[in-house]
Amino acid sequence: MVPVESWWQTAVVYQVYIRSFADGNGDGIGDVAGLRDRLPYLARLGVDAIWINPWYPSPMADAGYDVSDYREIEPVYGTLAEAHRLIAEAHEAGIRVLLDIVPNHSSDHHAWFTAALADEPDARQRYHFRPGRGADGELPPNDWRSVFGGQAWTRVADGDWYLHLFAPGQPDLNWENPEVRAEFEDVLAFWFDKGVDGFRIDVAHGLVKADGLPDGGTGDDTAPTLVQHNASHPAWDQDGVHDVYRGWREVANRYAPERIFIAEAWVPSNERLARYLRPDELHTAFQFDFLRAPWRADVLQEVVDEAIAVAATVGAPPTWVLSNHDVTRTVTRYSRSQPEHLIETDWERARWSKETPDYEAGLRRARAAALVQLALPGTAYVYQGEELGLEEVEDLPDEVRQDPMWEQSGFTDVGRDGCRVPLPWADDVAPYGFSLSKDVQTWLPQPPHWPSKTAEAQDGDPHSTLNLYRDALSARAAIWVDSGDLEWIATTPEVAAFRRGRAQCWVNTGEIPVDLPADAEVVLASVPGTGTQLPPDSAVWLIAGA
Ligand code: GLC
Ligand code: CA
Repeated sequence: MVPVESWWQTAVVYQVYIRSFADGNGDGIGDVAGLRDRLPYLARLGVDAIWINPWYPSPMADAGYDVSDYREIEPVYGTLAEAHRLIAEAHEAGIRVLLDIVPNHSSDHHAWFTAALADEPDARQRYHFRPGRGADGELPPNDWRSVFGGQAWTRVADGDWYLHLFAPGQPDLNWENPEVRAEFEDVLAFWFDKGVDGFRIDVAHGLVKADGLPDGGTGDDTAPTLVQHNASHPAWDQDGVHDVYRGWREVANRYAPERIFIAEAWVPSNERLARYLRPDELHTAFQFDFLRAPWRADVLQEVVDEAIAVAATVGAPPTWVLSNHDVTRTVTRYSRSQPEHLIETDWERARWSKETPDYEAGLRRARAAALVQLALPGTAYVYQGEELGLEEVEDLPDEVRQDPMWEQSGFTDVGRDGCRVPLPWADDVAPYGFSLSKDVQTWLPQPPHWPSKTAEAQDGDPHSTLNLYRDALSARAAIWVDSGDLEWIATTPEVAAFRRGRAQCWVNTGEIPVDLPADAEVVLASVPGTGTQLPPDSAVWLIAGA
């Protein structure tokens, strides 16, 4: 194992989906003021850092992942002055601040794109503009599909086409253009100068495309969407992208205390992922296999082994994620039948909606998975609401859906709104303390059955999921952080158990209780009262030989 020298090697980072975290001015949309108010909650939870989803000015074609100005704050969320205060207050509370940088594409409202549409000299060189194919250029320049569905090209008034791997409001930037590179290095420095501790890099595997933008190959022009992982495609994971990150690392290295990066890179293998983590590139990258793993001890074990082994080849800490703002919430993912292999999230979403969820089982498993996640070596990301045991809101009325995936998939994929519903803080009715104002309609409606899920309702209940997370985060610091390499303990097939030093974590994914070692003391259990036996769908932390 890599010796622990810096906070980010073992950090627990809480993902703040700002639009849905807390509303400080009563308009039904989360904002910087709401986040500042709730910093004490995060400090009490015990997280080391927050990652804030994009908070820059945006027309919201993709919930802020379409940035029109990288050096400002979206007016609905607040002001730059408030952002400064937030950063300072978070630091005072011992919480580091990571922002989300979106370098693969800008908004179509960005000044650069407006200039490109006006055909100002050289402006189109910052994006991927091409003439079309066919006699009159009426066919798109290649066969690429958008990740959200439909073709990845849109035609402009004078007949040229521009590339967008996501929504049409998200034109892809041309990273072969030195001006684009210089601009983003400057944006990084802008925020580092303001005390920001690092960045989560959006679509980190997409910036550089294969030379000449060749066709993806057979079948791509009929595929419903461009899949981000499991495929080698000229849009993704090109070797040239590493040069970009070597430049970014140089920018970060100019600062003290340390500034860090975490990549969102959906790549075909862990070996490809490790390339982003070479010592002169990025510090960490999400390992999404855990998020895609079914509730099965054998698969969990494989995923953990592989993630640790691969991260070790480049001296990086493994980085564990159970969910985020792009995938079905953990409780719901575990509430239906479990496949034998890693889950293709988009495809699974469609299938799941047909099977009746067992939320009790889902919650039991999610609580157990959290104990596994937080016992592993490396860093962990907790998506807001995981600590409250929230489920995916699957019954949003179609007319309130905002995710561009819904429309771009021809209304076949409901998209990601169900994991982005505003958090319940208090009270028995919506907006559950999310907004100061009680009559406001939140930007996505909250379900009527959430009174027992609020932070307030869970605060005083020692067995609530909120208190399980609080207990886990404080015990993690005490028993896991410095405990060393992971070693598996031989058990039955439906159980996975490992030790790191004297600390042990056991998880039972089967249907019958299993005996726990007699000479070990229970530190924390996902099922209250766990003693000599580990119940089904549960996990426990033990100290051996105590
Ligand atoms: C990333 C984000 C996702 C967004 C996409 C395009 O995958 O996590 O929310 O839609 O990039 O920016
Ligand atoms: Ca607001």
